[in-house]
Amino acid sequence: MARQFLWGCSTSSHQVEGFNTRNDWWEAEANGSLPFKSGAACDQYRLYPRDLDMACDLGHTAHRFSLEWSRIQPKRGAWDTGELDHYRRLVDAIRHRGMEPVVTLHHFTNPAWFAGQGGWLHADSPALFADYAARVFRALDTVTYWLTINEPTVLVMQSFVNGEWPPFMRNSPRSAWRAMRNLAKGHRLAYFAGKAANSRIRISFAHNAPVVQPCRPDSTADALAARARDYALNRVFFKLIGERPGKRTLDYVALNYYTRLVVRSEGSLTNRVFGKSCGHDHHLGQGRRSTIRWEVYPAGLRLVLERFARFDLPIMVTENGIATDDEAAREHFIRQHVTELLSARSAGVPIIGYLYWSLIDNFEWHHGYRARFGLVGVDFETQRRVPRPAARLLTELLETRETQRSF
Ligand code: FCB
Repeated sequence: MARQFLWGCSTSSHQVEGFNTRNDWWEAEANGSLPFKSGAACDQYRLYPRDLDMACDLGHTAHRFSLEWSRIQPKRGAWDTGELDHYRRLVDAIRHRGMEPVVTLHHFTNPAWFAGQGGWLHADSPALFADYAARVFRALDTVTYWLTINEPTVLVMQSFVNGEWPPFMRNSPRSAWRAMRNLAKGHRLAYFAGKAANSRIRISFAHNAPVVQPCRPDSTADALAARARDYALNRVFFKLIGERPGKRTLDYVALNYYTRLVVRSEGSLTNRVFGKSCGHDHHLGQGRRSTIRWEVYPAGLRLVLERFARFDLPIMVTENGIATDDEAAREHFIRQHVTELLSARSAGVPIIGYLYWSLIDNFEWHHGYRARFGLVGVDFETQRRVPRPAARLLTELLETRETQRSF
């Protein structure tokens, strides 16, 4: 069946819905372990028709959102069918506006009960996740494109290495490894549950794919550190899910691309092996940086697209965007990245979609509300939405004959 190129925006439940009172983030926000509170967020749980209207008016052909597991399963063994109905209405609302839904099952937040019993460190975690997944696959049976877990490697790093996200464990390699394996098993079990529910649906996980490069051109130690870091960030999870021809648990590759990491081998043992971020003084030249200090490196999008083409699967860019208060910088970012995307596509990389992060400003995790990624600005006092010029630019760039070509 020929399909349209899928383009539009990505979002996630905790960042936009508001009042997700039953997950581990809400708990940590309430007890002061996190610097900011999500509160009402964008109130999108209620205001979604209005936000989807904006996406539709912009001509988007797809919309990515995540299901909030803690709403659907507020307690172990208890299922809230009213919440499943809510998400069914959301899927219908997206379709009704001519967009293809792309649905994520897990986007960083865990139900509080699940976190309370050990979260992804618990031996039961993969089966519990797959149980939730199986219900959702059956309930939302009109959805074609699914993502099991958003950025498992980022979740593990932030939770068990950097210690910035719940459960705030710093430098815990054993826990990191255990969580990673359980997440991989959770993905595999969910994949099989999805295929059992409907063999025609398309399932992936969303992989955060940074470009990793060495800091000093003549340093073997830096080159090795970049390789080790790249292996940890860009390879391990694929190995753990056993992704290889003939033994697939992916139907397409979903890539989130934001930036490049430039690393230098120095200091502690971990920093010597995996490198530490090089900051400003590297030989590669610096792109601009966003408000949260991520380097803008458009050429990297082409590099990751070409690299992940090796799986010989269709590729969807499920996130790409910039946090900035400078609209010219946002427009520049979009123009440059879409150019890289379209040139990779013309060169034969089988790209089926591009989703900008994000439709509207939202709760950016431990950065709170100051990181503004939206095509549409939000006044969080009044919930007023104000479209930015970049919203139209994305439409101009992607509503082209090139992307009308079906796949
Ligand atoms: C990604 C996350 C997403 C958002 C963007 C800026 O790593 O998947 O939720 O925070 O970064």
